[in-house]
Amino acid sequence: MIRLAGITKHYLMGDEEVRALDGVDLHIGRNEYVALIGPSGSGKSTLMNLIGCLDSPTSGSYVLNGRDTSAMGDNELAKVRNEEIGFVFQSFHLLPRLTVLDNVAQPLVYRGIPRAERQRLATQALEQVGLGNRLGHRPNQLSGGQRQRVAVARALVGKPSILLADEPTGNLDSRTSLEIMALFDELHRSGQTVVVVTHEPDIAAHCRRTLRVSDGRIVEDTMNAPRGATP
Ligand SMILES: Nc1ncnc2c1ncn2[C@@H]1O[C@H](COP(=O)(O)OP(=O)(O)O)[C@@H](O)[C@H]1O
Ligand SMILES: [Mg+2]
Repeated sequence: MIRLAGITKHYLMGDEEVRALDGVDLHIGRNEYVALIGPSGSGKSTLMNLIGCLDSPTSGSYVLNGRDTSAMGDNELAKVRNEEIGFVFQSFHLLPRLTVLDNVAQPLVYRGIPRAERQRLATQALEQVGLGNRLGHRPNQLSGGQRQRVAVARALVGKPSILLADEPTGNLDSRTSLEIMALFDELHRSGQTVVVVTHEPDIAAHCRRTLRVSDGRIVEDTMNAPRGATP
């Protein structure tokens, strides 16, 4: 489903070249549940942004669901992003003036889906994350955990093939973080492909596979022991 080969991403800062990604080969299949871990500055977000078609690589190839995205222009890439990718960020990225319902319905506007249908699908996504009773609230009338659940509903509303979350629990206390991870666990169980960036071992332990990133490369790729198993 996701196939990266020889991916690099270099930035020129003055006359210094920053190798944010320095040769990544990676395959992620359908319904995998993957944690990306590694120190700050190792390239995790850069890798997520490439997988999520928010950015394109300096070199290498990225095939998403059989389609080579390296060959795509910006418009085509935006369409793929809208249809295939659900993205959740550490800082929620909700629009403060819109209601919860309108925030979640937003990605469907670009697909030309009529308003009534958008609202029906958004309501369904909000019920799925346990917020069916907060449709008319504004983001600032919600707790951090609720805001992140709205962001998850927005990521899911278009039925993406991949859910990507970049440090989704970075702004949440530990109890709320657990709630969000329980939600991801449930989405994974119901068939969703999920990739989570985190630097917390407790969060990574929810996933089935851990990729460790260091200096722009994947240096370790391990399957996790089933949770609850005693060593
Ligand atoms: N837009 C950019 N311009 C220049 N350097 C960048 C840019 N984005 C990231 N970098 C650099 O690339 C490296 C990897 O960054 P990032 O992917 O954000 O790491 P992580 O998410 O693991 O903390 C860092 O050294 C960072 O400074
Ligand atoms: Mg990051």
